[in-house]
Amino acid sequence: MKPLILLNFKTYKEAAGKNALALAKQLETVHSKEYDIVVAPSILMLKEIVDKTSLTVYSQHTDNISLGAHTGRIPAEELKAMGVKGTLLNHSERKIPLEFLQEIVEICKKKQLKTVICASSLSEVGKVAEFKPDFLAYEPPELIGGKISVTEAKPDLILKALEIVDKVSPKTRLLCGAGVHSKQDLGQALMLGAKGVLIGHAVPKAKNPGKFLQEMLR
Ligand code: G3P
Repeated sequence: MKPLILLNFKTYKEAAGKNALALAKQLETVHSKEYDIVVAPSILMLKEIVDKTSLTVYSQHTDNISLGAHTGRIPAEELKAMGVKGTLLNHSERKIPLEFLQEIVEICKKKQLKTVICASSLSEVGKVAEFKPDFLAYEPPELIGGKISVTEAKPDLILKALEIVDKVSPKTRLLCGAGVHSKQDLGQALMLGAKGVLIGHAVPKAKNPGKFLQEMLR
């Protein structure tokens, strides 16, 4: 598998509503033989971006429910049916209680949705690795949204996270994120052994997001 570049649109103004589709269209022009690119737009734009682009789309969240009497929830079954391929889970901006997390991963496995569980600390890495997600993203919250990349600030913790994941769930691929904003950050992440990165603000807030990402992946 190629290293994963997961672009979390969050609810940035530059990546919400009609801007989300415009941004997705820009990112659609980015071609890379070396990386798999995935976008995670807001839930409100998932279907439109799936239908109107060729991008691989993940949800920013999924709930521990199946179809039925649930209000304001996000069922994996519906995401799958609309062409979504995976989901972020437990992002530090959208935490999920551990007991629910396990249920959601089980549901996603059954519905064949890829799972990216986020972890804010090494102890959380150890706990969520037990659920054997497809990907585990180590993201120290204090670095999220900042200019200092996790690969620069905490290389040793990325190595430790890798060790934990290799031991607890060898098939799970470790990603890292928080402050990643350059080709160097990406290179450093891969050199440390991560199998990809999560990127939030750097792409949507770039003057030319498509060009910015293309440069990063060159
Ligand atoms: O999901 C990735 C995100 O939390 C990282 O945010 O803005 O530090 O790249 P950012």
